Amino acid sequence: MIVGLPKEIKDNEYRVGLTPAGVRALKDAGHEVLVEKSAGEGSGFEDSLYQRAGGRIVDSAEDVWTTAELIVKVKEPIAPEYPRMREGQLLFTYLHLAPDRGLTKQLLERKVTGIAYETITDHRGGLPLLTPMSEVAGRMAIQVGAHYLEKMSGGRGILLGGVPGVPAARVVIIGGGVVGTNAAKIAVGMGAHVTMIDNNLERLRELDDIFLSKISTLASSAYMIHDAISQADLIVGAVLVPGAAAPKLVTRSMLKDVPNGAVIVDVAVDQGGCIETTHPTTHSNPTFYVEGVLHYCVANMPGAVPRTSTFALTNATLPYALKLANKGFFAAIAADAGLKAGVNTFAGHCTYEAVASAQGLEYTPLDALVEIKNAIPA
Ligand SMILES: NC(=O)c1ccc[n+]([C@@H]2O[C@H](COP(=O)([O-])OP(=O)(O)OC[C@H]3O[C@@H](n4cnc5c(N)ncnc54)[C@H](O)[C@@H]3O)[C@@H](O)[C@H]2O)c1
Repeated sequence: MIVGLPKEIKDNEYRVGLTPAGVRALKDAGHEVLVEKSAGEGSGFEDSLYQRAGGRIVDSAEDVWTTAELIVKVKEPIAPEYPRMREGQLLFTYLHLAPDRGLTKQLLERKVTGIAYETITDHRGGLPLLTPMSEVAGRMAIQVGAHYLEKMSGGRGILLGGVPGVPAARVVIIGGGVVGTNAAKIAVGMGAHVTMIDNNLERLRELDDIFLSKISTLASSAYMIHDAISQADLIVGAVLVPGAAAPKLVTRSMLKDVPNGAVIVDVAVDQGGCIETTHPTTHSNPTFYVEGVLHYCVANMPGAVPRTSTFALTNATLPYALKLANKGFFAAIAADAGLKAGVNTFAGHCTYEAVASAQGLEYTPLDALVEIKNAIPA
């Protein structure tokens, strides 16, 4: 198969869809990989590294999109990329189609096979291509929080780990999933006093087993959250209710009891945030104050560490890209129901129910399509 690696052109996006190691793996499996000039620059991969891995450097995005059968990207295509998409082309990337009418229309009209990272499932029903970015954001939340707790950065001037004779900072993490657990690992490692709050008691039991006596766990309720944050130096919002906006667990009125100069990192901002006073911010203007509490609510935190994020993402995506290239689309989705769940658009049909219902489009299950029935016997 001819695999294409375009350079990301979305504002401030420095990640890239394949590392040189990924190009080498595809090449070794017998595929040709076209790499757009300087595609990996933002993540620290020079063209020469891709060349050494067996990739062919091409001058323009057009050169990649015109020839490649499988395009591997990071972000959803944006307007200048729409005309480059071709009928039957496999597009493997984050798509986030539910709120994006324009892109959905383009994928359908151009009959692109859109395989979305965010809807691929694993054998436990998890979302394996979202996990790496949650791991990055969770670990970053504490790093960022520690920075903003410094006086010069606008915080209350507290060292996360304290020192002998001076207590450590109190970190409250709301939501004990992937983001919350990764935040806790770093906070515990830095010597902070960590409290984790979740509404899933089974999860709290697991966290208690993982961290033993190094953290306290609390069952989620307005009362316990209010009590915990009243003494907090750093609050991390890490809640997710799949498919729904994040519940506002910390209200504006609760903030009156949070110490001045405390820091909130609301990682859940991409789902609306679990703090009532949250609104999305950017890396160029990341923070604001409400009730004397410093809020950091950047919606794409992993973008600040593109090299780590590219490695983390491609570690998870490459096995699927290899499967698609080695087996071809039909055999690959026949062999892997989780990969099949990633198919959002095919041959002009919207094949992902949540996207169809979000946009009032007709939903066509992949299995109902003649092309699929013929290619994949039941
Ligand atoms: N800002 C960013 O750059 C960035 C990056 C990655 C992920 N995220 C976001 O971070 C959020 C968390 O992601 P995740 O991968 O950790 O999700 P996850 O599903 O692994 O964990 C979410 C946790 O929230 C808990 N929860 C749900 N309702 C709760 C409640 N009422 N009280 C307490 N806990 C509750 C769940 O039990 C679960 O343990 C998501 O919104 C995700 O999109 C943001």
